[in-house]
Amino acid sequence: MATRLAHAGIVKIGQVAVENRFGAPVRLVFLIPAGVALLAGLDAALTLLGLPAPVRLDRLPAVHGQLMVLGFVGTLVALERAVAVGRRSAYLAPALLGAGAVALLSPAPLVVGRVLQLGGTVALLALYRAVWRRQAARAVAVQAAGAFAAVGAALLACAGVPVPVLAPWLVVFLVLTVAGERLELMRVAAPPTSVEVTLLGTALALLAGAAIALLSPRLGGAVLGVSLLVLSALLLRHDVARRTVRADGQRRFMAVAMLAGFGWLAVAGGIWLTMGTVVAGPGYDAVLHAVFLGFVISMVMAHAPVILPAVIRRPLPYRPLMYGPLVLLHASLAVRLLVGDAWAVGPAVQAGGVANIVAVLGFLGVAVGSIVVARRPPRAAVPHVAVAAVTS
Ligand code: HEM
Repeated sequence: MATRLAHAGIVKIGQVAVENRFGAPVRLVFLIPAGVALLAGLDAALTLLGLPAPVRLDRLPAVHGQLMVLGFVGTLVALERAVAVGRRSAYLAPALLGAGAVALLSPAPLVVGRVLQLGGTVALLALYRAVWRRQAARAVAVQAAGAFAAVGAALLACAGVPVPVLAPWLVVFLVLTVAGERLELMRVAAPPTSVEVTLLGTALALLAGAAIALLSPRLGGAVLGVSLLVLSALLLRHDVARRTVRADGQRRFMAVAMLAGFGWLAVAGGIWLTMGTVVAGPGYDAVLHAVFLGFVISMVMAHAPVILPAVIRRPLPYRPLMYGPLVLLHASLAVRLLVGDAWAVGPAVQAGGVANIVAVLGFLGVAVGSIVVARRPPRAAVPHVAVAAVTS
């Protein structure tokens, strides 16, 4: 239903259907800076791993985190929200986040990019106000708490706080964005109110943990760690993925990607709980990438066949080939974190890191190929029915 509506230029939020103000070609333009941020971020990742990179720019390694979190994933999140809200002004959020990423790569002073990203996060928070007016639900509150964390991260960056210190805010942003969306879908199965309340409480605890960590990394780490462990357990226990993993095709693929992601969230929680919010070394690499690659990118892979068609109005049919990059992502992350970081084996970190990059690029290739093939008449693939695919 959602995809059919999206293909007709209509997106449904809660019970309200709104007309989209920008057509697919214009919306595609917003994806360009996100793509640039991803490619530049991956290039920077090679340099951070101590390996040769195709492009060598002095500032690239220093902006890898902001490019990936706010530039790439942040722009995608804001674009998806803007499409759902449907107003022209809603596109300010993805536009500013994308422009911020481009500015970070340009010769302009870094503060220009950071201020643009701050504007983008504030606009994203404002988007949730519009969503809240239509649907005052705990799931929206959780996502808005995530956007609030994004504003916090961007504000701290503008104030010159180093990324390792503000990193928990970046983590909270994306974790709560995903958790809120999953809660929205959980409601279809009518979980006990206590689940929704606990999830909202966990969201607030994560925000508190990020704030405390600025003053006391040990205590903040403990709050963040316990919160991530609780969140992981809640999602593993109540998410619809537990049921849909027994289905087949796209639904199973999505469920596998999500359940694996929930597992990595627990790994990150365990690291923060035992080590505090580390700002360098193997623990730092492990906690960040357990969340950003194991949880977030796995979620991006899971949701791409559902969300991208709504944004670009082209079908992105599921292909069994998608398991290749997904399995590579999780296997290589295990090598990088559980062998490389845990046992201080540098080559395992490097090999795992490179395979992480191959997995991300591989999924991009499969997704683009799938879109192109699906457009070819007369055997164009029928778009999947998004919401039914996720919830049934
Ligand atoms: C695809 C493969 C990736 C590789 C190989 C990679 C590699 C790295 C490396 C080597 C570091 C430095 C870690 C340290 O200082 O100990 C790093 C930092 C970081 N990465 Fe990644 N990364 C990848 C993907 C991502 C993604 C997808 C995100 C977010 C969505 C992300 C966010 C970050 C952040 C926030 C930092 C901290 C940056 C800083 O301290 O300035 N990374 N990454």
